[in-house]
Amino acid sequence: MKKIIIANWKMGLTFKETQFLLEKISTFEAYRHFLIVCPDFLNLAQATQILKDTKIKTGGQNCSFHHHGAYTGEISALDIKAAGAEYVIIGHSERRRIFKEDNSMINQKIKIALEAKLKPILCLGESLLERKTGRTRPVLSSQLKNALKGIKIRKASDLLLAYEPVWAIGSGQPMESEEAERMHKYIAERAFALTGKRLAVIYGGSVKPDNAHDFIKQKNIAGLLVGGASLQAKSLKRLLNI
Ligand code: PGA
Repeated sequence: MKKIIIANWKMGLTFKETQFLLEKISTFEAYRHFLIVCPDFLNLAQATQILKDTKIKTGGQNCSFHHHGAYTGEISALDIKAAGAEYVIIGHSERRRIFKEDNSMINQKIKIALEAKLKPILCLGESLLERKTGRTRPVLSSQLKNALKGIKIRKASDLLLAYEPVWAIGSGQPMESEEAERMHKYIAERAFALTGKRLAVIYGGSVKPDNAHDFIKQKNIAGLLVGGASLQAKSLKRLLNI
């Protein structure tokens, strides 16, 4: 079954390396899954150009919680859309932890992204401490509820959810795939209760070509959000054909 693979390049490549990788993936021949590439903002408009004759879509890694104004260093969702992107990652744990984004800011960003006609990829995930103290489900439920407060989702495809246990990101220790399946089912049910829509939930956190199949064979896992393993053409190609 066709799944969604999102390549989150973070700040993992130089300007030149990004251009090189984009040129490479634009030549990928038939592959199984649906690819969304999220380069850094400097490369976003050009990425959309380079990939325009392919089925590959692009996304921003973040957006401002305002459309325009005196917000030095911020990027407007309207401009991300104008650059040709269809998606935007919101609430990644690195944004929450390092840049102190809270649930109300994330809620505002989701609203702004939807107004700009972008499809948000809303990231959720528990920390190791929250996991160890048995708070995973309440934490996920509250992240979801707060992020979606006052938001009406018209079509299920307008919003994607990404479940990324914080402790699994970049650690080389993914969640065990059967547990991930149970968590995805839980998140999908909570999301249905809140929005009335069957939203796709994808998994992220130390996905590699060697473990990707364990996740995508699961019924409730609609795809993968991949950081480190999406930075080389060879491993990205493998992920697309798993
Ligand atoms: P990782 O990152 O694949 O390098 O663990 C995933 C993410 O942060 O989206």
